[in-house]
Amino acid sequence: MKKKLQILNKSFNEPISCLTAYSAPIAKILDGIVDIVLIGDSLGTTLYGMKNSQKVTLDMMKYHGLAVNQNIKKSITVIDMPYKTYNTKDEAFKNAKALLKFTKVKLLKLEITEKNLSIIKFLSSKNINVIAHIGVTPQSFKDFKKIKVVGKTNSESKRLIELALNAERLGAKAILLECVTKETAKKISTVCKLPTIGIGASKYCDGQVLVFDDLIKMDSTQHMPKFVKNYLNFNNLAKKAVRKFSKDVKQKKFPSKQFTY
Ligand code: KIV
Repeated sequence: MKKKLQILNKSFNEPISCLTAYSAPIAKILDGIVDIVLIGDSLGTTLYGMKNSQKVTLDMMKYHGLAVNQNIKKSITVIDMPYKTYNTKDEAFKNAKALLKFTKVKLLKLEITEKNLSIIKFLSSKNINVIAHIGVTPQSFKDFKKIKVVGKTNSESKRLIELALNAERLGAKAILLECVTKETAKKISTVCKLPTIGIGASKYCDGQVLVFDDLIKMDSTQHMPKFVKNYLNFNNLAKKAVRKFSKDVKQKKFPSKQFTY
């Protein structure tokens, strides 16, 4: 793990790549190709079809985390603490310990604002590695359509820079920046010694993360933010395959001799 954590060192000489995974087969695809595999609480919306991530439970994170982590041999794994599981230091510690023990993941990601910054120090003092997710923090949104880019004004930019520096001072291992203007992301990435990993936060971050299901367009009905790049239209390919299967069944072409005992 120590060797793996080198990736979270700013002197790591190439940009950090990170994608989400919620299941064993996706973990196997990503392992060793991306530097970090994130078991994100985006599984609530992406996998379970929920409206937001507020109903994601610790148990959901535990089982998906275990499925992923058991199938990762080379990349680093990071897991999200779900909504309202880290309201107080004691609650955060108890739930973090349970989640890390069950999944054997070594790095936690927490959505951090000025209000819960001190949790980083507390968890770090208990040897729990924390990545601070700042900027847009989706757990505070019931309606994702209300999400807007942050860091546009001077005061907002200053606030985010201070938040990142405080997270660093209190022991965070990396900063994840979501939906932050390029100017602010650049400033944070320059002043922080910690690596920054961006999602919708420009090329100035030290690494980039996307939701795997967005990258391959798993669900064509989902609204995609501007920052998502589709590398594959899996939805189209899968529908084509399903149509072909259904047609074959109806025309009694499947199962042919080849698929029969
Ligand atoms: O839950 C998640 O997948 C995330 C990414 C969007 C960064 O936090």
